[in-house]
Amino acid sequence: MIHSSDPKEITETILSWKSKGLKVGFVPTMGFLHEGHADLFRRSVSENDKTVVSIFVNPAQFNDPEDYAKYPVNTEGDLQICKEAGADLVYLPAKDTVYPGGIPSVELKVPHLMKNLDATTRPGHFEGVLLVLSRFFHTIPADRSYFGKKDYQQFLIVKDFAKALGFPMEVIGVDTVRSEQGLALSSRNARLSPKEKEEALLLSRALRLGENLIKQGEKDPAEVLTVMKDVLDSSSLIKIDYLEVLNAETLEELHILKGEILLAVAVFLGQVRLIDNLTVKVS
Ligand code: PAJ
Repeated sequence: MIHSSDPKEITETILSWKSKGLKVGFVPTMGFLHEGHADLFRRSVSENDKTVVSIFVNPAQFNDPEDYAKYPVNTEGDLQICKEAGADLVYLPAKDTVYPGGIPSVELKVPHLMKNLDATTRPGHFEGVLLVLSRFFHTIPADRSYFGKKDYQQFLIVKDFAKALGFPMEVIGVDTVRSEQGLALSSRNARLSPKEKEEALLLSRALRLGENLIKQGEKDPAEVLTVMKDVLDSSSLIKIDYLEVLNAETLEELHILKGEILLAVAVFLGQVRLIDNLTVKVS
């Protein structure tokens, strides 16, 4: 496995692979890697000849400076995980390499998918994600890129954005990896106290209850929301940021529960913000 902070070296390596007809998969990350990331790497390794990983904590996507400052870093451990999962090339750029002259003043948006969820509670977040990915998609001309559905809205936005801008790259969504008890793996889990970690299990529990209600025939989104909210409110440590039941393809609000439905939640547990979601299909 090669790792480099030089974008020219990265692009040249990828172009030399592509000139030999090899297929290249790309997994962008912000590091402090865990099994959820490793699952994306393995999926890419299984579907492509070469897999490229980027590790970069992107300042442009943090609307909270403290969240950026406290974002955990573990480069050595990350490289080990990349290697074990079979990655071939890791791009580790410096901030000034990605943003020479600072973060530029442009605003990238996919407005129809940015009307709710994280787009409203984290203003500027997805604009920052799209900015860094635009840059990486130029540096890393892969055939496929892989995104976790844990960040469901991010996956939909990036897929639409890549298509709209004509990046010749397929954007693939991968299911959420969870702990045995159901907690969605996240780099931010490392900042939870043992008590908070226990309370964090209520997120997936609330989502599962919502899913079961829908599967049992509940058609009213308000009923499902009430049941999920009661679960979260049973913890005095949890502060709900959002809790929504939406059309999973358009992210529009639903009045009657049918089709593919997204149940999505974001909460604060102390200083740490966690998100989780699941999709349910009903006819
Ligand atoms: P990061 O939070 O590091 O996540 C990198 C990728 O791993 C994302 O596609 C995310 O959805 C996926 N991921 C995280 N936890 C997961 C889990 N438990 N199961 C499956 N996939 C999981 O998302 C970002 O970084 C950034 O916004 C980025 C796309 C790199 C742009 O800066």
